[in-house]
Amino acid sequence: MSHFEYKNGELHAESASLRQIAERFGTPCYVYSRAALTAAYRAFDAAFAGHDHLVCYAVKANSNLAVLNLFARLGSGFDIVSGGELQRVLGAGGDPAKVVFSGVGKSAEEMREALAAGILCFNVESEAELARLSRVAARAGGTAAVSLRVNPDVDPRTHPYIATGLRQNKFGVPYRDALDLYRRARELPNIAISGIGCHIGSQLTDVTPFVAALDRILELADRLQADGIALAHVDIGGGLGIRYHDESPPRVEDYASALAPRLGRRALKLLLEPGRVLVGHAGVLLTRVEYLKRGPEKNFAVVDAAMNDLMRPALYDAWHDVLPVSRAGRSGGAPYEIVGPVCESGDFLARGRTLELREAELLAVMAAGAYGMSMSSNYNTRPRAAEVMVDGGDTYLVRERETVAQLLARETILP
Ligand code: LLP
Repeated sequence: MSHFEYKNGELHAESASLRQIAERFGTPCYVYSRAALTAAYRAFDAAFAGHDHLVCYAVKANSNLAVLNLFARLGSGFDIVSGGELQRVLGAGGDPAKVVFSGVGKSAEEMREALAAGILCFNVESEAELARLSRVAARAGGTAAVSLRVNPDVDPRTHPYIATGLRQNKFGVPYRDALDLYRRARELPNIAISGIGCHIGSQLTDVTPFVAALDRILELADRLQADGIALAHVDIGGGLGIRYHDESPPRVEDYASALAPRLGRRALKLLLEPGRVLVGHAGVLLTRVEYLKRGPEKNFAVVDAAMNDLMRPALYDAWHDVLPVSRAGRSGGAPYEIVGPVCESGDFLARGRTLELREAELLAVMAAGAYGMSMSSNYNTRPRAAEVMVDGGDTYLVRERETVAQLLARETILP
């Protein structure tokens, strides 16, 4: 069930009219549905109900405090990749004891902050990082719980920029080195081994690579066990895809039933780091048509949102459906390039879409809840969009639109 539907010819988020939201908060504007976020979290969590597990929402997908707070209230843990994300989780009322810290480049300062907050586990990605973490923990007089992120060398069959579990990627400890590194970790002061994990990529539309990766990781876990290194958890990362266009990703139930049973009788808690699947369909980007422009070869609809607001089309050639907010009196249409005001030919939100468009009308860029606002920038000195959360018929501004004055305030000229 979608939480974004037409009612009397007008697109709504739950029972709130997107036209009214645009009139009240302006455009471009991200609009999230509380019910959609809640339903996605509950479905994912319920799919793993038969196994001891913890969902650690990948904050990078959408890090708005209201989104994080909602997941925290639903019992979610969090997967973070920076000190900034840690502060967001704490600021949103998240439980630090349910936080895992991923990423290849953790600074000593970030490690100190995470230790002080009392996070569940560091997902360590290299020998050098392990050594640094041991030193930082020793100096802080604490113990760091560690899970090695192992690179299982499995092809996730996704866009090359978001494939992470191949041998040539920068991520994780090489599979063949992992055993040795665990043995070394065991000897290190202030390090407590707690798990093993992997994350092979994002927007996967098939369970097979997940299963292959998990099997490789479990094989290692068994060898560690035989070596006297007992683990408390296995973390299979995130990566489950969603349908943007014509993909047919597995349902969360199928994903869960392909994975959880493979743990068998091992006493391992299952950690999951879903991002996109929890937020992708829960958000749209509202934008207004500024100009319709007829070129010699193509028709352009220049809208007020751009690649700085939603980078996915420019960066990955990603598809997002574009719907008119009002579909009253439409018939037919012409192919349009939906482009923004930014000075780059890569600045498009959609290409070759058949739409009947009018100047000043509102469009909704669909499935923009994941990696939309969180990847936005101020390129072309464009203040970032407002964010609104809908709850039934109520709307809440959960991030104010930036102002140009705020952007300039941090800069100075030479004396
Ligand atoms: N865990 C780790 C360690 C990750 O690196 C990621 C995503 C996730 C979990 C969550 O993956 P998800 O469930 O969302 O696929 N900007 C790209 C996606 C980049 C994903 C990076 N890592 C996009 O817009 O498609």
